[in-house]
Amino acid sequence: MSKSLHSELILDQFTRQAVPFATAPGIQDETALRLVVEFSGAGPDDTMLDVACGPGIVVCAFAKVVKHATGLDLTPAMLDRARTLQQEKGLANIAWQLGEAMPLPHPDASFSIVTSRFAFHHFLDPLAAIKEMARVCRPGGKVVVVDSAPAPDTADAFNAMELVRDPSHARAMPLEELKDLYRRAGLPEPRTTGYRLEGELEGLIKRSFPNPGDDETLRRIFRASLDGDTLGIGARRDGDTIRYGYPVAVLVADRR
Ligand SMILES: C[S@@+](CC[C@H](N)C(=O)[O-])C[C@H]1O[C@@H](n2cnc3c(N)ncnc32)[C@H](O)[C@@H]1O
Repeated sequence: MSKSLHSELILDQFTRQAVPFATAPGIQDETALRLVVEFSGAGPDDTMLDVACGPGIVVCAFAKVVKHATGLDLTPAMLDRARTLQQEKGLANIAWQLGEAMPLPHPDASFSIVTSRFAFHHFLDPLAAIKEMARVCRPGGKVVVVDSAPAPDTADAFNAMELVRDPSHARAMPLEELKDLYRRAGLPEPRTTGYRLEGELEGLIKRSFPNPGDDETLRRIFRASLDGDTLGIGARRDGDTIRYGYPVAVLVADRR
């Protein structure tokens, strides 16, 4: 797929997802946000950039701890949500930028922490994205990637399901592949931790915009995964709905 066609899919999907994504309980999960902020080692002298910041949830979580935080995203509707969230939280030390992750519009070594959450699976060229994050991170700073990380044996099924759910999906990588991206970008071996992004199927469908008719396909895929966990997301029945927990990896490396 060409880069411009993919960007159109992203813009379409995330303009529609801006409000439902921003307000989904799993996305707002404070415990997960605290884990990411603490695991990154963020402190009061840091200046951070969040790449593909969406509705600004990660930026606002860091802004409570760091000197200054910047969020960059290519979807204007997401940045509108981000500005609203910033106002709600009464945070002053934030800047928002409409822009592309590849390349980033910043000079080398501009920030001490560069993060990106739930965006690498949308990138056609994730190596180019992490190289850009490393470039704008100053030596001694941190490069932080948080993303869905399927187990290797269920990655193909997981990615096929995600592409049905969200046509702008590119590919979620297993943890070892994410670590390999760091190595190929010239970064040291990252420290890693993880958690589960918990949710329920109907809520997930409501905040996704599959092609017409594919919501039913998605229900079929989830039902088929109940025996044997073929998607690797622990899909299980809970009354009338199906619950799941996407595996999420958090990786942090010091920029040399
Ligand atoms: C699933 S949302 C994640 C938002 C946010 N990082 C979070 O975790 O709450 C993915 C975001 O990536 C943005 N995005 C995707 N590709 C991008 C690119 N090449 N450059 C900038 N933003 C991009 C989309 O506009 C969308 O807001």
